[in-house]
Amino acid sequence: MTQKQDKVVILDFGSQYTQLIARRVREAGVYSEIHPCGISPDRLEDLAPTALILSGGPASVSDTNSPGLDEGILSLGCPVLGICYGMQLLARMCGGRVQPSESREYGRANLEVLQESPLFKGVAAPGDGLKVWMSHGDTVLEAPEGFAVPACTDQVEVAAMAHSEQGVYCLQFHPEVSHTEGGDRILRNFLFEIAGLEPTWSMASFIDSQIRKVREQVGSSKVVCGLSGGIDSTVVAVLLHQALGEQLHCIFVDNGLLRADEGEEVVRYLRRHFDLNLRYVQAQEDFLTRLEGVADPEEKRRIVGNTFIEIFEREARSISDVRYLAQGTLYPDVIESVSSKGPSAVIKSHHNVGGLPERMDLELIEPLRELFKDEVRKVALELGLPDFLVWRHPFPGPGLAIRMIGELDSQGLDILRQADRIVHNELMASGWYFKIWQGFAVLLPMKTVGVMGDERTYEHVVALRVVESTDAMTADWAKLPDELLSKISNRIINEVRGVNRVVLDISSKPPSTIEWE
Ligand code: XMP
Repeated sequence: MTQKQDKVVILDFGSQYTQLIARRVREAGVYSEIHPCGISPDRLEDLAPTALILSGGPASVSDTNSPGLDEGILSLGCPVLGICYGMQLLARMCGGRVQPSESREYGRANLEVLQESPLFKGVAAPGDGLKVWMSHGDTVLEAPEGFAVPACTDQVEVAAMAHSEQGVYCLQFHPEVSHTEGGDRILRNFLFEIAGLEPTWSMASFIDSQIRKVREQVGSSKVVCGLSGGIDSTVVAVLLHQALGEQLHCIFVDNGLLRADEGEEVVRYLRRHFDLNLRYVQAQEDFLTRLEGVADPEEKRRIVGNTFIEIFEREARSISDVRYLAQGTLYPDVIESVSSKGPSAVIKSHHNVGGLPERMDLELIEPLRELFKDEVRKVALELGLPDFLVWRHPFPGPGLAIRMIGELDSQGLDILRQADRIVHNELMASGWYFKIWQGFAVLLPMKTVGVMGDERTYEHVVALRVVESTDAMTADWAKLPDELLSKISNRIINEVRGVNRVVLDISSKPPSTIEWE
């Protein structure tokens, strides 16, 4: 007997938290898909959702061009949860009164639970308070007829509303963000208590469904995949290898900007464990020559990106009948490098193979596009990949080019590689490697005076950047113990010729970024 597979469709009204809702639903063990809010009722019916969630969004329901929802969607009959904008929209559609406000209410608010509701089961009883995260402009002044109002705040009379017969539930606050007390349970209450879904989805079913999807999409065509040595592209390669076998062709371009041994390790592992079509292209010279004399970070990214494209293209063209390009794009890459929705400016141009699909007329396959890094690690574990790969820290596509600040030269890259290896080894030996998001060395474009023995020295400065994070969108500097910091500093200064000073970066993101360039 096949197990029932529930599906939550999340309609996206442009909130920065839409993916987070999808992630929470996945964590609860239910499959979810995000679709644009303008979807037609017919298309939605074809998707056969067992529950719907309407996300928040930046618009005001009273704006003339604000996104709406086709009336037919509500008559599909599956339970609906409206969050923030989703609630205001439902309130208006069902006949409630919504008022736009001059200023947005943003941040923590105290929720008071007024009456029993399955939404708050196991979280709060009538009379209890909860700290919740709000971010809204419009306010529901009056709930539509027939709706109960199980919660309010000091600012907002209708902070939640529900019509149990119609299966419509709404929250003015964001249950998906970690700052909302009991938020996870509130979402689970919607999924399990209200919508009656079953938690049958897992990363194993994610892999199965991606394999099925890729097979359907690709048919008998060929796919090329660029390997970078990091976990994202390795997971894509192994996943697609399972789906397509011989039809997959992997290309690893060594750009001379990798950490010590990093490229070889992955290639060796993949060759030993998988019968992959894998080409290892040594192109160090091409990259370093083109980067000579370039100091601007975005220019470095552009050169590394373009050179990669050129070499990758040349290699890929020598494989006949390629129609698809597979990439390990993750969700944070999507939102940090694409500003399709307007206000979120491009911070760094992360997409290292941008432009390639159009030039080569290739279609993209991005199986990890909706996942966060820690979810990719779960996929990697499920695929049986080894710890050294699963727990490998993220490494930027332009590699050491953006960790040697200013102009590059091979001597500097060599110094950086040696310093970086010490940082890596000490983080590993102390167990800190697994507790942090990223830890690495940065080579600064300056020299400072030191004294070694009786000699005056005038040499390079290495900065130590070690951060904690869950998704790289925000990060804080890791509070490594003094002894470990001393050991790293002493080892770098004593063992790496050309360095006489180590400094520690104590900035968080924002306002700084994780990388220095
Ligand atoms: P930032 O420096 O923007 O970095 O806080 C966030 C995460 O992204 C990585 N990063 C990059 N990854 N190409 C990449 O593939 C890039 O150009 C790039 N720049 C930064 C960074 O290492 C961190 O994990």
